[in-house]
Amino acid sequence: MDKEKKHKRYERLYKQIADLLEGKDYPVARMTTIVAVLHHKMDYFFWTGFYLLEKGALIVGAYQGPVACIQLEKDKGVCWAGINREETIVVPDVHKFPGHIACDSRSNSEIVVPLKQADGTTYGVLDVDSSQLASFDEVDAEWLEKIVNLL
Ligand code: SME
Repeated sequence: MDKEKKHKRYERLYKQIADLLEGKDYPVARMTTIVAVLHHKMDYFFWTGFYLLEKGALIVGAYQGPVACIQLEKDKGVCWAGINREETIVVPDVHKFPGHIACDSRSNSEIVVPLKQADGTTYGVLDVDSSQLASFDEVDAEWLEKIVNLL
């Protein structure tokens, strides 16, 4: 998808998600809705979901796509890198990312966006995998950061 088309698609989805979440103060419902909209409207999203910190462990939350690892080995892989660096990580080729955790061998590229509380503390990540190489760029990073800010 070219960048302009992608930008316009995200613009529409952002509005749709904001409308769906308005006045709904249920964290699980909010996360599940974000995942459902993104996964079904972005055709290159092969796995879409959240990993949340629970007593120092990183545990899978709402997701769509193939069955994923429930717990990620501490400080290993892309999701933990997102938590530890507290910034969005775009991985064009997961096979070249040291320690990448392959929950499904069909994943080839990935983006991880940290979730921050109001005080700036990171409490989890949004993780999206694609079966194509280099699916994610700065347009995905910009819009997915905006979308997780709706949580
Ligand atoms: N690849 C991730 C693990 C989660 S799966 O992609 C769903 C990682 O390296 O942290």
